[in-house]
Amino acid sequence: MTRKADSDLTPDRIRDALRTPVLGRRLEWRQEAPSTNGVALELAQSDAPHGTLIVADHQTAGRGRLGRVWHSPPGCNLYWSLVLRPPSPSADSTHYVSWIPLVTGVAIARALHALGLARVSLKWPNDIQLQERKAGGVLCERTGLRTGNSAVVVGVGINVNSDPATFPEEFRDHTTSLATEAGAPFDRSRLLGEILAQLEDRLETMAGERHEDVVEEYRELCSTLRRQVRVHIVGGETLEGRADSIGIDGALRLIPNDATPSQGSEPIVIHAGDVVHVR
Ligand code: BTN
Repeated sequence: MTRKADSDLTPDRIRDALRTPVLGRRLEWRQEAPSTNGVALELAQSDAPHGTLIVADHQTAGRGRLGRVWHSPPGCNLYWSLVLRPPSPSADSTHYVSWIPLVTGVAIARALHALGLARVSLKWPNDIQLQERKAGGVLCERTGLRTGNSAVVVGVGINVNSDPATFPEEFRDHTTSLATEAGAPFDRSRLLGEILAQLEDRLETMAGERHEDVVEEYRELCSTLRRQVRVHIVGGETLEGRADSIGIDGALRLIPNDATPSQGSEPIVIHAGDVVHVR
């Protein structure tokens, strides 16, 4: 789980592993970057095409959801971002955009299944989990809404070959890596190629007539559903209850534990939050 002299993640190896006609056809490689999402947001403003891929071996200021830091040591993990230009504005493209982070989680889970890791699940909205420990996450950021140069940047961090014992103490108990769970290292370029193939396939499905197929696939992989959970709602309160369903809008429907009889069991719709599985 140390840095290899002959790295498994180089621009040439990534190109060899790509089988996608669109995603990753423009590749921006950085040995080190503050944040691949930051690079992608800049490139999106300078007309980077749909599917532009930015990959770094090391991030010095990796960003997580809700303003957190994403621990991004060199030589062992995957840190990458894609510039996506959604189909033209319409009611359907609103669904498309809100589902990009969830669909990315589905693509990662399916790629890991294809590479032999069976017990992968998604904690809503898009934590990649193995045995209830986090192995990866997705951070989506939008840009260009006012300039008409609209893009979604989808950023993915996966703990591939790192040793969780080297993680900052506050993450150690609930973090893992793919190699730890599989008992063997993964080839990062191959894994990236597999994820992008799965993602391109599902983005096409989302943009077409079969949006509901991907929603159903997400629901099957989501370990939050039907669980007792605690949710810290972004900019709001903390609630406990039963995770009832995921709507077509990607939002979580929670039946709170303290719902009074007069409130009935009307679910609360949560668009952004942080979930803890209580049991
Ligand atoms: C999360 O908090 O679960 C989301 C983590 C997303 C991290 C990735 S690493 C590549 C990309 N660049 C960033 O700065 N963040 C995302």
